[in-house]
Amino acid sequence: MQAQRVLPTGLLGLTNSTIGKKVIMAVTGLVWIGFVAFHMYGNLKVFQGAEYFNHYSEGLRELGGPIFGYAHLLWVARIGLIVTIVLHVWAAVSLYRRAAKARPRSYEMQRTVQANYASITIRYGGLVIFLFILFHLMHLTWGVPGVHNSFVHGDPYANVVSGFQSIPAVIVYMLALTALGFHLFHGTWSMFQTLGFNNKSYDRALRGLALALALIVPIGFATVPLAIVFGFVS
Ligand code: HEM
Repeated sequence: MQAQRVLPTGLLGLTNSTIGKKVIMAVTGLVWIGFVAFHMYGNLKVFQGAEYFNHYSEGLRELGGPIFGYAHLLWVARIGLIVTIVLHVWAAVSLYRRAAKARPRSYEMQRTVQANYASITIRYGGLVIFLFILFHLMHLTWGVPGVHNSFVHGDPYANVVSGFQSIPAVIVYMLALTALGFHLFHGTWSMFQTLGFNNKSYDRALRGLALALALIVPIGFATVPLAIVFGFVS
């Protein structure tokens, strides 16, 4: 009998196969890893004072000039971030649904504690980070009254300093950064597996890399609110 040729459907088979969805998760996750690492590094400019920090923030808007207009490249990056986060969440939900459907009921009780811990941390952590991003935009980008009551448009340094005078806001950031650390650790590790870096001989090195990222990024972010709370930055 002649073998049947199976053509991939969806976007080259990416959007409807399990491996395709995992690749989407890995690549979009990588984009966000790049963003959070860059954003954390940029935030450290707070320690160089108001003028330096605000100049950096303005520089992000002038990026690509004079070829690109004011904030045009920034908007390209923002659209890229929105598209990648939507794809990341979509792939996660769809993989979860597929796994739940495939899993026989009785098996549910037998799942290993470790696998459960990793998948629960990453799932709920992801939700916490998503909600945090919405809160964070209301706090430091849009200055929504009630979330940030002394927001001054065009003065990000002042907004960061006054925004972290509120202890509840600092607690929200600390919780979200903890969730980010766990998400980065498990997410980066899964990303390596999906992208094929799963050779036993460098497992330890990759775990080390995932751990380093999961510690450096949240701790780097946390230095800013903590420095403000303890009066090192004002
Ligand atoms: C203590 C930690 C953080 C501080 C102090 C901080 C600070 C800021 C500031 C000041 C802005 C506005 C920049 C401007 O308008 O020029 C901003 C925007 C943003 N932040 Fe953060 N951030 C922190 C953590 C995070 C984390 C953990 C994420 C993601 C998981 C994140 C994602 C974003 C996004 C998506 C924007 C909008 C970028 C844009 O539209 O230009 N931030 N952040």
